[in-house]
Amino acid sequence: MMIKNICCIGAGYVGGPTMAVIAQKCPHIKVTVVDLNQDRINAWNDSDLSKLPVYEPGLDKVVEEARGRNLFFSTDVDQAIDEAEMIFISVNTPTKTYGVGKGMAADLKYIELCARQIARVAKNDKIVVEKSTLPVRTAQAIKDILDHTGNSVNFQILSNPEFLAEGTAIEDLFSPDRVLIGGDTSSEGQKAIESLVAVYANWVSRDKILTTNVWSSELSKLTANAFLAQRVSSINAMSELCEKTGADVSEVAKAIGMDSRIGSKFLKASVGFGGSCFQKDILNLVYIAKSYGLNEVADYWEQVIIMNDHQKRRFSKNIISTLYNTVSGKKIAFLGWAFKKDTNDTRESAAIYVADDLISEQALVAVYDPQVQETQILSDLNYLESRTEMENKKYIHVASNPYVAVENSHAIAILTEWDEFKDYDWQKIYDSMLKPAFIFDGRNLLNKEQLENIGFVYQSIGS
Ligand code: NAD
Ligand code: UGA
Repeated sequence: MMIKNICCIGAGYVGGPTMAVIAQKCPHIKVTVVDLNQDRINAWNDSDLSKLPVYEPGLDKVVEEARGRNLFFSTDVDQAIDEAEMIFISVNTPTKTYGVGKGMAADLKYIELCARQIARVAKNDKIVVEKSTLPVRTAQAIKDILDHTGNSVNFQILSNPEFLAEGTAIEDLFSPDRVLIGGDTSSEGQKAIESLVAVYANWVSRDKILTTNVWSSELSKLTANAFLAQRVSSINAMSELCEKTGADVSEVAKAIGMDSRIGSKFLKASVGFGGSCFQKDILNLVYIAKSYGLNEVADYWEQVIIMNDHQKRRFSKNIISTLYNTVSGKKIAFLGWAFKKDTNDTRESAAIYVADDLISEQALVAVYDPQVQETQILSDLNYLESRTEMENKKYIHVASNPYVAVENSHAIAILTEWDEFKDYDWQKIYDSMLKPAFIFDGRNLLNKEQLENIGFVYQSIGS
């Protein structure tokens, strides 16, 4: 079937950019992105492109070209489902915060709600595409719900996990390493796969479009994230050993990365990985393994999270011990709050946990991030429920300018690797700080020699 009308449920970090790119690359397909959140949809429709709800380099241009032509954002979920031949489900699948599997399993309530809504509204055959990251075998649950609609509608379920990384989403979508499509092995399933292959083939070469059975596709997504996060935890584990032995983790990473079997990517030691997915997806993997009684498999992957938690905590502990074992009443300036550069997303950012540790020691934390607003920073801290909202407000100050954030501070902590931090006037910053002036570089971003020449006490990760 030649697809002419696509609906995507969920206008978040994945639904928005992926559908904008599909619409831009396929002007013959009408793409409607729907969401329950009216504010989000309004922001996607804002004529001021700087107000889009997702900050991604290059996204504004893509939206500008396609929006109103064949790309639409709406809260009318029923109508979009009804009109579409292919429906992407791109809603959030957070870690469960209640009941069985609390803190581990993926919460599939939003997925199930989508399936029930599709079942209720659909009047003709539909291809339903899992774009969200899901536990292996979720397609079976979706199919069960859809197949019990009581009408004669036929549904095909495909798994088409998304591998984009935030900050480079548009680049990743324009030239993906691969597109993965899993579907039923029946001839109807294969036809459904072919219609989605044809959509991507508008801009992705066919040899990069991989088709598998649905379970392999679902599980490959969790596996990919587990492997990527595992590399970060592995290099972070070595960073602690480097600090004890005089080895330098950047040199070690370079030396091992030149081995083509290891490869050089994803070997950057840091204050710990963040983002909405690595932790969630690994916990989910651990839960799935446990549910099959595979305890060794579960423990193996859980260690990636344990190591990451340790890395975050170790960073804040080091700040406290270096500042003479007390940060009470001391101003510590954070440069960066987002979980990585070039995004306004802060979910699970290491900065949140480091700030929480320091505030527990009564430090005054001043934050500057080029893309993150005060309301977000406060809500990230409040979400941890470590203290009252009033207290968080007392200890955290959000500056709209980096030079204001660092003024009269005892120390600066680099939490996000924003490029602009490298170009600041570090002499001016040094002059405005209390002495000794410390820098804790959680991203190994700045130039040690230059800063030490100015007079800073500079500490990085893993050397
Ligand atoms: P998000 O929270 O940014 O967006 C999800 C959106 O779905 C929200 O706007 C929410 O209002 C909407 N929604 C929830 N239930 C709905 C319903 N019943 N009807 C209509 N709208 C509904 O989440 P995200 O970051 O875009 O992630 C979505 C999925 O994609 C997750 O499974 C995630 O694991 C996966 N993923 C995310 C990334 C990433 O970089 N963020 C990358 C690859 C995969
Ligand atoms: C990650 C994956 O890279 C994507 O392929 C995947 O689609 C996505 O998760 C998802 O499923 O949500 P993302 O979390 O957006 O993408 O960003 P990454 O570039 O993977 O970075 C994740 C975290 O690891 C960041 O905090 C980053 O700073 C940290 N990191 C990454 C390191 O500390 N060192 C590295 O070498 C690489």
